[in-house]
Amino acid sequence: MKKLLRIGIFDSGAGGLTVVKSILEHRFFDEIVYYGDTARVPYGTKDPATITRYALEALEFFKNFDLDLLVTACNSVSAHALPEMRANADFPVYGVIDPGIRALRNSGLDPSARILILGTRATVQSGRYQQGIEAAGYSNIEAVSPSLFVPVVEEGLFEGPVLKSVMEHYFKDIETPDAVILGCTHFPLIADAIRDYFPNAPLMIHSGEAIAEHLQEEGYTPHRVEKSDLKIFASENPDNLKAIAKKWLQQ
Ligand code: DGL
Repeated sequence: MKKLLRIGIFDSGAGGLTVVKSILEHRFFDEIVYYGDTARVPYGTKDPATITRYALEALEFFKNFDLDLLVTACNSVSAHALPEMRANADFPVYGVIDPGIRALRNSGLDPSARILILGTRATVQSGRYQQGIEAAGYSNIEAVSPSLFVPVVEEGLFEGPVLKSVMEHYFKDIETPDAVILGCTHFPLIADAIRDYFPNAPLMIHSGEAIAEHLQEEGYTPHRVEKSDLKIFASENPDNLKAIAKKWLQQ
């Protein structure tokens, strides 16, 4: 009998659905179990010890599902809690930061390219992207925490004057980048607006696509199933999260 493959995807809230979208499109897995800690979002403004405690609590939830692997879609968790999660799980736990850095390296962008990292305060302060990108040979790096992007995206404002003025607030003094790391689950939803803001349409690195590429490298086969079954759980108001999933994922 064909083995059933089940992946868990964890995020602080709804944003990780952007990673679910990429994983769904690749049809690697029979089942996707998504858990959003909607009662305690945002994580990106919390300190590393709190983020790690929340992540370990989420891990206990996932232990009920006989998972083959777990992906933490949340960059803030990927930045701070991966070693502890891995030490406490009996299945592989993947973060999104290393796959994002690999995607940048695989892009073939010149080492002189200007790289703009966008992430939560927790992610940027961890220095994980900065160190990894530097180790990949790039030295022209800037990191910014556009915290207001998160509520703007939660409001569904993926374009228009509000988003434009928030982008202006964070980007007005920034040198035009050649690549932008969308180092937060929410940012892929405004990737087009960010790309259009800059005159040279920089390369956009998206966690969902990066982790999907990485899972292929790890031996998972795309288009293995007709359709993945998606189960959604939340620490608060799961119906709201399901409604967002319906809208964002169109399913
Ligand atoms: N999921 C978070 C991340 O990718 C963004 C939202 C939050 O701050 O919890 O870092």
